[in-house]
Amino acid sequence: MIKKIMVGVLAVSFLSYGGDYVKLKKPPKDLDKYYPPASENPVFLYNMYTASTSFTGMFANIKEGDWKNAQKWAESLRKAYLKVGKMVPKWDKFLRKNEINKLVEAVKNKDVNKIKKYSQIVGQSCSSCHKKYMLPVKIKYHYPSYDLVSIEDPVSGNEYGIEDYMKKITNDYKLVKVYSSDGKFKKALKTADNFSKRFKALTQMCSECHTNKIVEDVYFGEETENALKALKKAIVAKNNKNINKQMGAIGGTCYKCHNVHEVPIMMKDKLSK
Ligand code: HEC
Ligand code: HEC
Ligand code: HEC
Repeated sequence: MIKKIMVGVLAVSFLSYGGDYVKLKKPPKDLDKYYPPASENPVFLYNMYTASTSFTGMFANIKEGDWKNAQKWAESLRKAYLKVGKMVPKWDKFLRKNEINKLVEAVKNKDVNKIKKYSQIVGQSCSSCHKKYMLPVKIKYHYPSYDLVSIEDPVSGNEYGIEDYMKKITNDYKLVKVYSSDGKFKKALKTADNFSKRFKALTQMCSECHTNKIVEDVYFGEETENALKALKKAIVAKNNKNINKQMGAIGGTCYKCHNVHEVPIMMKDKLSK
């Protein structure tokens, strides 16, 4: 029994102080309603911008001695601030309601000391929620999902989801290296040809999320096109050094795209489970 309690105590202290873990709190489900796809726009974030602009508007006007507008902005701040608890009832407890009311009062009374005092308390309540939730909310809601993305494989004619398609591309990529290294250049050339087709066919999916064509040039522009052509030439010339060079350039494109498109999705998956 004592042993169990000890383990319990250790586990608790480990969780609280263990520097080896980074913990992210899952955002409350209520937030789903205020972000795409459920909502057209990220309206929770828009309300934050309103709160933040109102804070600035209030202080800027106080500095100028324009108390009428300062009061307008203070009231707008209160409205946006209280709206957080209405949108997400679980977060109501973060709000210092008494103090936001006193802040608006203080602006009405032109009481600079109290304005300082209460805006600090309210401001701290903003930061304490941000410390806990800003990062997980951004990860969970700012990235579109790839669930509906499908790509038609130009080699087999089949449709694949992105994960399975990536597995095919990776396989081709590695086999080009293996066959070339083993001196099987005919097989390497055939595989490089399939790889090249599959790689370019990735552009099918861009318009699911992007409205301009310019983005395609970043990964599939002239540089990539040249590397793909040079790869085939190098295989025909049985030049392993050059093959590796071109594979390196193409691999750099995989890497670039993954930094932007894969890493956030990996994190998002964890928070969405
Ligand atoms: C109970 C939680 C909570 C409270 C209270 C709160 N916020 Fe936020 N705030 C968030 C979350 C979550 C985000 C991230 C939203 C997003 O990126 O979609 C955020 C984002 C923001 C942003 C955008 C920052 C960026 O880099 O995108 C601003 C500005 C902001 N909040 C200002 C405020 C101000 C000012 C207050 C207080 C008057 C406040 N917030 C109170 C949760 C809160
Ligand atoms: C499921 C959605 C999705 C798909 C599909 C997608 N992207 Fe993106 N892409 C994003 C998001 C999200 C960002 C981050 C910037 C943003 O929010 O617009 C981004 C950013 C980029 C950027 C960085 C420049 C920028 O706009 O910030 C490039 C370049 C890019 N994508 C290229 C592509 C290409 C090329 C394809 C097709 C092969 C593609 N993307 C497919 C969601 C997607
Ligand atoms: C236009 C962007 C883009 C390009 C270019 C790209 N990938 Fe990916 N890749 C992704 C995305 C997005 C995922 C995450 C899919 C998911 O988890 O839903 C991914 C995932 C992967 C995975 C993990 C698959 C799994 O089992 O979860 C591998 C392996 C991979 N890519 C290999 C490659 C290789 C090799 C290349 C280059 C030859 C490449 N990718 C080029 C976007 C890209």
